[in-house]
Amino acid sequence: MSDYSFDTLQIHAGAEPDPTTGARQVPIYQTTAYVFKDADHAARLFGLEEVGYIYSRLTNPTVSALASRIAALEGGAGAVCCSSGHAAQIMALFPLMGPGLNIIASTRLYGGTITQFSQTIKRFGWSCKFVDFDDLAALEAAVDDNTRAIFCESISNPGGYVTDLDAVAAVADKVGLPLIVDNTLASPWLCRPIEHGATLVVHSTTKYLTGNGTVMGGAVIDSGKFDWSASGKFPSLGAPEPAYHGLCFHQALGAMAFTFHSIAVGLRDLGMTMNPQAAHYTLMGIETLSLRMAKHVANATAVAKWLEADPRIDFVTYAGLESSPWHDRVARICPKGAGALFTVAVKGGYEACVKLVSELKLFSLVANLGDARSLIIHPASTTHRQLTEAQQIAAGAAPNVVRLSIGIEDAADLIADLDQALSAATA
Ligand SMILES: Cc1ncc(COP(=O)(O)O)c(C=O)c1O
Repeated sequence: MSDYSFDTLQIHAGAEPDPTTGARQVPIYQTTAYVFKDADHAARLFGLEEVGYIYSRLTNPTVSALASRIAALEGGAGAVCCSSGHAAQIMALFPLMGPGLNIIASTRLYGGTITQFSQTIKRFGWSCKFVDFDDLAALEAAVDDNTRAIFCESISNPGGYVTDLDAVAAVADKVGLPLIVDNTLASPWLCRPIEHGATLVVHSTTKYLTGNGTVMGGAVIDSGKFDWSASGKFPSLGAPEPAYHGLCFHQALGAMAFTFHSIAVGLRDLGMTMNPQAAHYTLMGIETLSLRMAKHVANATAVAKWLEADPRIDFVTYAGLESSPWHDRVARICPKGAGALFTVAVKGGYEACVKLVSELKLFSLVANLGDARSLIIHPASTTHRQLTEAQQIAAGAAPNVVRLSIGIEDAADLIADLDQALSAATA
């Protein structure tokens, strides 16, 4: 299957016709449990001597089809699906971390991730140091003996900044740490972080992968390439795991160690499981991912160019514009385009932004992105509200900007809507 091209994999990977009924589409296996053939079969499944379905907190055939499809699209060895993108981030860190350990993350992240990493993970005894990932010396200097991962977004929310994944991966390699890349805004059609050296990729499948704003979901994809045993820093994977009767996951399962640990220990004990209905909607969405992303990028480019030339606008951060300081990275990191999310600074600052989001008719004012519909939000008063003004500015969410998530409608209609709302907001 992995020999097929992206457009074929997005429809077929992970899904054969149902062996019992012949159903061509992946059925929604709405079941919590699976009948074991006998006691011996049950024991083999629990001992990971045989792969099969036990209980839907761990695995479910509809969810497994989605996990295999996302792994194929990202070029990973395996994947695990979770209940949300935020759950996926905790699931990615869980096997690597312990009390007293830390991660290094980019300052340019989704505001909810900054809060999760700067506040919430402290309750597990974990911590995070935030660094500007364009300063590679600072990134390397921030690593200490207790650091267990480096985390960034390929294209970052809200500014659409493009991370130099090759350069960041080179630092991660040098210091012997896994690089975790949130690829939500790019999707694997625009960027495949594993090809740039990422160890793990995380997604909020809530966004472009589903593509229609219907269900929450997340995924962690493992490249299968990291040596979890070499440094002795990752005992859950590289040494006998007491939470799974002393199994050494890396030794026993090789490239699938992270994925099996995430299911057998992560989902078993944290329970951040994706439900089969959500997996079904996301499977439906993924079938058209490449078609949608191409239209998202074409529309975002048209809208960003129009806004940049408008006298009511101070600046537009879209990396697809030649004026962007990150434009050079697009050809290397996300050659098919810079995504469809960016910020716009409106002349008139905070007040004009707040008026603009209320005057739009076609754009919806919502806390979401990656929908077929065009969306807008004022991050400083909503998604990035919990941050200090300095953190907001570092994250690209200053009070004078709005964030646009450009959908797949007709670009001329989107521009007309922005034009009338800008007139009202800046009058
Ligand atoms: C880049 C990015 N990562 C992760 C998340 C969290 O995803 P979810 O809302 O599915 O938990 C979001 C949510 O907006 C996001 O934009």
